[in-house]
Amino acid sequence: MIGRVLGIESSCDEMAAAVLADDGRTVLSSIVHSQVDLHARYGGVVPEVASRDHVERVGLVLSEALRVAATTPAELGAIAVTSGPGLIGSLLCGVEAAKGLALAAGKPLLGVNHLEGHIAAAALEARVPEAPFVALIVSGGHTSLVLVEAWGGPYRPLGSTRDDAAGEAFDKTAKLLGLGYPGGVRIDELSATGDPKRFAFPIAMPGKDNLDFSFSGLKTAAARLLRESGPLDEQGRADFCASFQSAVVENLLKKAFRAAITRGARRLVLAGGVAANRRLRARAEERGRRERVDVFLPSRANCTDNAAMIARAGWVRLSRGERSELDLECHPSWPLSRLEPG
Ligand code: KG4
Ligand code: ZN
Repeated sequence: MIGRVLGIESSCDEMAAAVLADDGRTVLSSIVHSQVDLHARYGGVVPEVASRDHVERVGLVLSEALRVAATTPAELGAIAVTSGPGLIGSLLCGVEAAKGLALAAGKPLLGVNHLEGHIAAAALEARVPEAPFVALIVSGGHTSLVLVEAWGGPYRPLGSTRDDAAGEAFDKTAKLLGLGYPGGVRIDELSATGDPKRFAFPIAMPGKDNLDFSFSGLKTAAARLLRESGPLDEQGRADFCASFQSAVVENLLKKAFRAAITRGARRLVLAGGVAANRRLRARAEERGRRERVDVFLPSRANCTDNAAMIARAGWVRLSRGERSELDLECHPSWPLSRLEPG
C-alpha cells in the first residue's frame, strides 16, 4: 500500500494541494488558491504574474493542506505533482516544491499529467465508472475525446478541437460581452434567465465522420450577431449567453455521445473546467437517459483545477510502482497518449 498521497497542482493560475487517504478515494484535504482577482484586470492569465504569485503561495498552500488533513510530511506515503501540460513557469513552482519536500521527507515522487488528473476526478465520486469509457475533456486549454481503456491508461485519442478550446470560446465570447474574466462561469450564471433560442448560432461541425470539434465559427458568429443586434439590455445579454452556451453544449455532446456509443461501452465521463457548466451537465444527463448512455459527472469543484484529482491519478500509478527521479522535468506540451511519467 502506498499510504497517503500529497497532490500538488500549479499548471496554470491555481496553486492547489490535497491529501488523499491510503484508500485512494477519501479526500482528507483539498486547498485551492485561485488567482482570478490578479488576472481579471488583464482579461486573461498573464504567465509571469501567475508564476510570481505561485512562488509566494506554494509554502502556505502546502502547509494548509497538510494541516487540514492532520498529516505531517513524515506520515505521507508519496508526493504526486502536475508536471505538464501547462505554463512552464507555473509548472516549475509546483514541481520544484514537490522535489524539495520529497527530498527532505525522503518520500517517493511522481510527475502526473494534468489531463489524466481531470479524468481521475471521476474516481473520487460515489459511483466510479468502470473502464472502458469515453472521457470528454473540456477546459481552458484542451477539448478532446479520449477512449480510456483502463484507469491509468492506455488512453486513445478519438478527436480534439481544430481551433479554440471550449473554455477559450466561453472566455472570448464573455470578453466580447464585457463580462470580465473568467467568462465561462459568468456566461453560465447569466444563461439561467436567458432564452437559448433567441439568437441563431450555428452548431459548427467539421465533417460528420470524425470526432473533432471546432469553435472558431461560433466565436465569429458571436461577434457578427452582437454587431447586428446593437447594444443589448440585461435580458438581451442573458438570451445571448443562453443561445451561445446552448450551441457550445450541443456541439460538444453530439460528438461525445457518438464516441461513447460507438467506442466507449456506452459510458461517458465529463472532465475539466467546462464540465462544471450547468447546462452541459443537465443536457448530458438528459441525453444519457434517452440514449442509454451512463453519464458520470465529477462534482463541480472537482471539474475545475484542483489537487485532489492529481493525487488520485498519482495514487493509481504509484500503486503500480511508478516513480519519478528527483531530476523530474516539466513538459509544457504533454499529450495524454504518451503517458510515461514526465
Ligand atoms: O480545467 P480548468 O479549471 O483549467 C484548465 O485546465 O484550463 O478550466 C478552466 C476553463 C476556463 O475557460 C473557464 O472559463 C471554464 O473552464 N469554466 C466554465 C465554467 N467553469 C469554468 N465554462 C463554462 N461554464 C462554467 N460553469
Ligand atoms: Zn485543468
